[in-house]
Amino acid sequence: MHLHKYEKIWLIFGMGSLALFLAIIGFAAFWKGIHPQSHIETIDPQNIEAHDAFKPENLGLHEVADGKYIVNIVASAFNYDFGTDENGNAVKTIRVPKGSTVLYQITTKDVVHGFQVAGTNINMMVEPGHISRFETVMKNTGEFTVVCNEYCGIGHHLMFGTVEVYE
Ligand code: CUA
Repeated sequence: MHLHKYEKIWLIFGMGSLALFLAIIGFAAFWKGIHPQSHIETIDPQNIEAHDAFKPENLGLHEVADGKYIVNIVASAFNYDFGTDENGNAVKTIRVPKGSTVLYQITTKDVVHGFQVAGTNINMMVEPGHISRFETVMKNTGEFTVVCNEYCGIGHHLMFGTVEVYE
């Protein structure tokens, strides 16, 4: 079979880019541990407080066992609600020890948001009507910025928080 020179070049280009993209997906999934969040559970976006995890008093960080934590978060335009501290001030930083297993549970009442913890493998889409969950081990110490990576409106760039992993 005779292949024209240009046809050969395009075939190699096409197959090469497919192989490259598969390699990138493989690297992200198996080496970096980046996976899609679970979207198994639905929730009424008009009434998220009906779910225990998203009652105002249950938001934020909870230690559920030795070295195991749950963080309940409500995303809204343009804020991450991590609950309040003992003085009633809004919590902006989640602090967990290095090596702990943390389950992040997040939902939203309004529009689609993102929940990415830059420098870790946490990267979730947050959709109204769904609970996004992702469990991971916080392997490295440091301060990691939580950013919204889905355009959600005029204040999108103001939507951030911090996860601090201490020794
Ligand atoms: Cu929330 Cu962008």
